[in-house]
Amino acid sequence: MKIIEVKNYEEMSKRAADYVVEKVRSFPGITLGLATGGTPLGLYRHLIEDHRNNLTSYQNVTTFNLDEYAGCDETDPHSYRYFMNESLFNHIDINKANTFIPRGDGEDMEREAQEYEQLIASHGGIDLQILGIGSNGHIGFNEPGTSFQSQTHIVELTDSTREANARFFDRIEDVPLKAITMGIATIMRSKEILLLVSGPNKREAFSRLMHEEVNEQFPVSVLKNHPAVTVMIDQAAGCLDYTPGSGDLEYVPHD
Ligand code: GLP
Repeated sequence: MKIIEVKNYEEMSKRAADYVVEKVRSFPGITLGLATGGTPLGLYRHLIEDHRNNLTSYQNVTTFNLDEYAGCDETDPHSYRYFMNESLFNHIDINKANTFIPRGDGEDMEREAQEYEQLIASHGGIDLQILGIGSNGHIGFNEPGTSFQSQTHIVELTDSTREANARFFDRIEDVPLKAITMGIATIMRSKEILLLVSGPNKREAFSRLMHEEVNEQFPVSVLKNHPAVTVMIDQAAGCLDYTPGSGDLEYVPHD
């Protein structure tokens, strides 16, 4: 796990965008795994800016998003499909037919989950997965206790996750109770992972990631078992309790 510490959210977003752009330019047919939430918004803003200024093309790129709320169709402003269209897809030259997000409004969610898993496999898997982290350590919507063997599946959201995401809704009662998410095993099959961690409310989660053993009660800890993870973290999320040289972590302090 390589940890790159940067000064602030803006610098993290720019560095993450440089990283993604470099991958897209060297492999125009790349399959990206994308995340929602507040954290990757700056990354997406920089990708759009780069697309406009430097003409990086996404015409041959395929994307798979991590998750979607149950019961939200793509016209619902709370859906992650809507979020991705507004935050990225509408502003770059990607073919929307190559952007995949699990459907939260399907009649048979279990079948949707299985088909999504097969779809990812049929595209040869994900080359680079962007991840954020929930304050309870969730990745995608894989809440504490989720099996590390899990494939794309339906989940019940915890109260803490619904509270954290209530800021995107008028009232907490409006936050869906369920979601469909890539499983931990799905995420771990990505060839490479870029984890973005920003802000003081992620400080405790990052500290736990540094200090806890890999365990299913803290889903993000599984990333320690992945061979190619880069973490970009800002100072507010705190790297201060990191001990250089511990384990197989490579620490790159900000300049
Ligand atoms: C949601 C998403 C996650 C995301 C997390 C953190 O629960 N399903 O993929 O990482 O929120 O969101 P934020 O970046 O807004 O803190």
